[in-house]
Formats: sequence, C-alpha cells, structure tokens
Amino acid sequence: MSSIKTHPVPARLLDSAQCPTPFVNSLEQYKSMWTESVEQPEKFFGNLARELLTWSKPFETVKHGSFETGDVAWFLEGELNASYNCVDRHALKNPDKVAIIHEGDEPDQVRKITYGELLRQVSAMANVLKNLGIRKGDNVAIYMPMIPETLIACLACARVGAVHSVVFAGFSAESLRDRVVDCGARLVLTSDEGRRGGKNIATKRIVDDALRDPNAAALVEHVVVFRRTGSVVPWEQGRDLWWDEEMSKARTVCAPEPMNAEDPLFLLYTSGSTGAPKGILHTTGGYLLGAASTVKYIFDVHPEDVYACMADIGWVTGHSYILYGPLALGATTVLFESTPTYPNPSRFWDLIQKHKITQFYTAPTAIRALRRLGDQWVEGYDLSSLRVLGSVGEPINPEAWDWYNEKIGKDQCSIVDTYWQTETGSIIISPLPGVTPTKAGSATLPFFGIKPVILDPTTGQEMKITSDEDTGVLAITQPWPSMARTIHNNHSRFLDTYLKPYPGHYFCGDGASRDSDGYYWIRGRVDDVINVSGHRLSTAEIESALVHHETVAEAAVVGGNDDLTGQCIHAFVSLKPGVEQHDTLEKELILQVRKMIGPFAGPKRVHIINDHPKTRSGKIMRRILRKIVNGEQDQLGDISTLAEPTVVEALILKVHN
Ligand code: WT7
Repeated sequence: MSSIKTHPVPARLLDSAQCPTPFVNSLEQYKSMWTESVEQPEKFFGNLARELLTWSKPFETVKHGSFETGDVAWFLEGELNASYNCVDRHALKNPDKVAIIHEGDEPDQVRKITYGELLRQVSAMANVLKNLGIRKGDNVAIYMPMIPETLIACLACARVGAVHSVVFAGFSAESLRDRVVDCGARLVLTSDEGRRGGKNIATKRIVDDALRDPNAAALVEHVVVFRRTGSVVPWEQGRDLWWDEEMSKARTVCAPEPMNAEDPLFLLYTSGSTGAPKGILHTTGGYLLGAASTVKYIFDVHPEDVYACMADIGWVTGHSYILYGPLALGATTVLFESTPTYPNPSRFWDLIQKHKITQFYTAPTAIRALRRLGDQWVEGYDLSSLRVLGSVGEPINPEAWDWYNEKIGKDQCSIVDTYWQTETGSIIISPLPGVTPTKAGSATLPFFGIKPVILDPTTGQEMKITSDEDTGVLAITQPWPSMARTIHNNHSRFLDTYLKPYPGHYFCGDGASRDSDGYYWIRGRVDDVINVSGHRLSTAEIESALVHHETVAEAAVVGGNDDLTGQCIHAFVSLKPGVEQHDTLEKELILQVRKMIGPFAGPKRVHIINDHPKTRSGKIMRRILRKIVNGEQDQLGDISTLAEPTVVEALILKVHN
C-alpha cells in the first residue's frame, strides 16, 4: 500500500485571492483541535455548541453518560428548536438569501426559496400540524419525493416538537406499513405522485395500500397530500386532506416549541443483520451540532457558497447534508429531484455550471456509472466554481476516485471521502479541505470528537497493527454528540447491536485498516448487511421476502462484488417438494423482493438449487456461497464440516456454467 499516491491539498484552496480561507487550514491546527475535542470534549463541544447553535435556554452539562451504561446525552438542561436554528435566525438576519434551490425533474423547472419564504411556509405547515392535533412527541410519517415541501414538512414537525419519520419513496407499501406501525404515526404526509427521470411515482397509491392494513389504519388519522403532478388519485373522505387547502387556512406565524437538547428530532429506519428494520432515534441538540459542524469543517461552506448533496431525503445523508446541516449554517442548499442521467448523463455537470455549485456530494456508484458512460458528457461544462467534492455510502475504488478528482475536480478540488452511518448521525472519518493530504480509497482521519480504534474480532482487544493491510473491526472509544441514542421501542437491541459486542466501545459493523500515516481504510461490512449502490440491505430481510413466495422452501442471500453497484445480491433458493422449476420463476422471485421491500432491493441473480451447503447442525454456510459468487471457489477452505460436501460441486456448476 506504500505505493499509493498521496495528493497534497490543492494550492488554490489556500490562496485567498482564489478561494475563501478554509475554516481549518493546516494539519497542525486540525491536530490540536482534534486533541482538544477528544481530551477535553466538554470544553471543545461546549464552545462549538454555543458558536454554531442558538439556545433558548443554555445547557450546563455538556456530556453525560457512557457506552458502559448506554445512556449517552449531550447538552442536558439546554433548550433549542431545530426549526428556529435552521430557519428563523437566518430569516431574521437575511430574509432574501436563498435557502433552497430546487432543481426539478426537468432541467427548466427551478424554484428558489428564500429564508424569509421558508419561514412563512414552515410556520404555516406547523400550524396545519397543530390544527390536526399533532403535538410535541407525536410521530409523523413522511413519504414524499424530492421537493421543497418535504423539507418544509420535516422542519414543521421540528417546530411543533413532533418526531418525523421519513420513509424513502422507493420503499414498497409493505415496508411503509411496517414503519408507520412501528413508529406509531398519527399522520402521514405524501404527494399525489412523485416525478423522477421523466416517470411518475405513485406515492399516494402506495400510502393507500400501506394504510389498508388494519394496524396502520387504526393509528393514522389523516393523510395530507401535496399536489406535485396534478394526477387524479384515489381519495378517502375524512381521512385525506389537500396540502394547499390546509395551508391556505393556516396562519404564517407559529412560535417554535422549546425542545430539550435530548428530545427526539427524528426516527430513521435502517437495516441490521437480523430482524426487522431498526428505528434509529436522533435527538435535537447533539444531532444538529454534528450536522452543522461537519458541513462547516468538512465541506468548508462559506456564506456565498452553493452547496449540493445528491442523496435522497429518505436516507440519513439527505437529512444531515441536504436539510439540517446546511440550513443550520444558513447556507444555500440544492435539492435535486431527478437522476444523474436524465435527460442525459451531463445532468450533474449542467447542474453545477448552472447554479455555480461550490460543494458537490454524491456516491461512488453514481461516479462509476458516469465514468463508464464516457468523458464526452463532462466536456465543455464550466465546473470552476467547485472547491470540495464529497463521496459517501461505500468504499470508493481508486479508478472512480481518480476520475472524480481529475475530470470533475480538474485536480483543483479537495476530495472528501466521508465515512459514517445512519447511527453516527454525521460524518465521523473524513479529510478536511485545506488540511488533509488524500489517498484514493481512504477516508483518512477522524473528525472532531471521534476516537476510532481497530479491534481484533477474536480477542476484542485493540489490534496490534504491523502492516497497512492488517484488518480488524472498527469501533469508537468515546461518545460523540450526534450519535444515535436508541432504537425506537427497543433499547436492549440498541445495546446488543452497538455497545455490548465490544464493551466500552461503539461497534460500527465495518472492517477497517489503519496505515502508517494513521489513515483509516474502510473494508466493508463484517455483518450480514449488503451495500448495493450505497443502499444498506439486510440479507435476512431479503431471505424472508423470498420465503414468502409460495414455491420457496429455503433461501440464503449473500453479497457479490459488482463493478457498478459495489455489491450485488445473489439469492440461493430451494423449492418446496413437488414444485416444478419453470422459466419465469427466477424473474418472479426477483419481483417478489421488489414488491415486498422496494425496487432497489431486487436480487441481481436468483439461483434455484436442490440443496444449500449446511453444517451437520443444519446451519447454512453462507461463507461458501459468498466465495462461489465471487469466483473464489478454489479458496473455499475447510468444507469437511458440511453435512453433504458434494453439494458444493453442484453449486459451482450452477453459478459458473
Ligand atoms: C454503511 C452505513 C452514512 C451515509 C450513507 C450510508 C458504508 C458509508 C462509507 C465510506 C466506506 C462507507 C459503511 C457503513 N459506508 N460511507 N465513505 N467508505 N464505506 O449510510 O445506510 O447507514 O450505511 O455504509 O459500511 O457502515 P447507512
């Protein structure tokens, strides 16, 4: 690994004639700030929380609790409102500054919303929520496309103290129902339809399907529907209400509810290695500080900047890096409704040129796809406004990193490979622009407050690292402000998943190495979580969707390597006795998963087999399946523990014939 090239910070970033001076501008400054942040977190984060956030009541205790006791809390006694911090205080100072640039699905549909207008809209929506009886602590589910009203909905919830639970609009009715029921939503916010890549998405119809379930129907009192396309949609009198009609009745002034720093701000469901999706709970003060401080230091956002994150609001990246982080800083954030290839693969570069974007944040899977389509789609675009290019969601391969750096950044931008998770709330390992020399494929150094460690999974002790390739499991040794506080209604699962595997540590679930420069290299999940195009999927959930099909006896799902999507899903399925295999069965089973979880979860391949490789006690050895799909059938290791070693030959033939 010593042959890996180190890229110095581009000189342009440190030249005040060309760029605003980065908030941190030397490695020494980063090191001293980081040291203070982990050695005196009370001092460091107390100051940062007073600098970046506005508190209606000051906190006294900066840091409380521990990983041992599982009761982490920050800024106790402090009171603040996230919507006040993201909207009011900027609207008061700078009402005409653009808060949101919405680039619609068609490139000519651009809408700009100022902080002043945002304040009126958020306040009116907050009054709509109140008129419908929503109060502090109530749960509201949001199933909406990438439009400003979705951000307004989240901020309105925060304003009245309701806990939002955004469900990615690519999830199926079944997945939406499970989330609505688990969080106990009293209200669902949606749109008639969504629009993406020239196609309509039937959001309202999916909400109706989800609410056909009696448990969901018993909880949800109203569905508020925003008109996005104007198509005719089914209507349930009494339950369904039009967004514009409710808004027109509402006052545009609404006092923000004072919230305790530890009051919940939102729930966001994510997949674990086993069981149902987990409702990750984030609280108000610590989360908002994490989102704001990482946008400030990692994206180096200055007042004149136009910052753009291409994630979907249905994932945590959208929460922290489209909505809460940039708006808490009073920045201009771009909200993108379309896809990287609509109407053609120049869309991102057109967007950057048109809005003079300064920070651009996307995922390796998009970079790989655009790189593959050819440089002609980038040529001729003026990308000189860019200073920082971010990557997130999965490890970025050096070919994609180099392309992003050379073709998009023209070697003049800082590439920030940002490592984090739904549970961490904000970025925890990343370079800082103007500070950190970069290496393609490494997320480099920890953010403030983060003290990572690499543990030996067999002993649970800190690993003795003797070479750059030594890989252990990544853990964090002390609490940080934006970490998740619990799993909704299941604190023991929270403790079991993150805090008990390695006592005294937060366990990330990823393998990692650390090189001789102290840089971290994330190697991918060590549990049964698969990462397809940056979407986190649980093998157990996909298996359970497959065995719901009437023909399936047993299913095992593993991740294969994929040049485009990072990983892809391979399902191994055995059929019930008497079921005949037919030509369309593979397709039918893929559809089954798409229908039960969502289109993005569909397996790439379904292999119909007679027998799974099992141990004598009947456990499927997924390790063997994983090796076979990745072409490592000559490195299967010890297969003598298999009940029936001869099945391996048949499996190899099935996959590789
Ligand atoms: C998992 C978390 C948090 C943003 C979106 C995904 C993987 C995330 C990186 C990166 C290598 C990464 C990890 C992590 N991951 N960013 N820069 N390099 N791997 O959030 O759905 O909660 O998934 O994504 O495996 O554990 P998420």
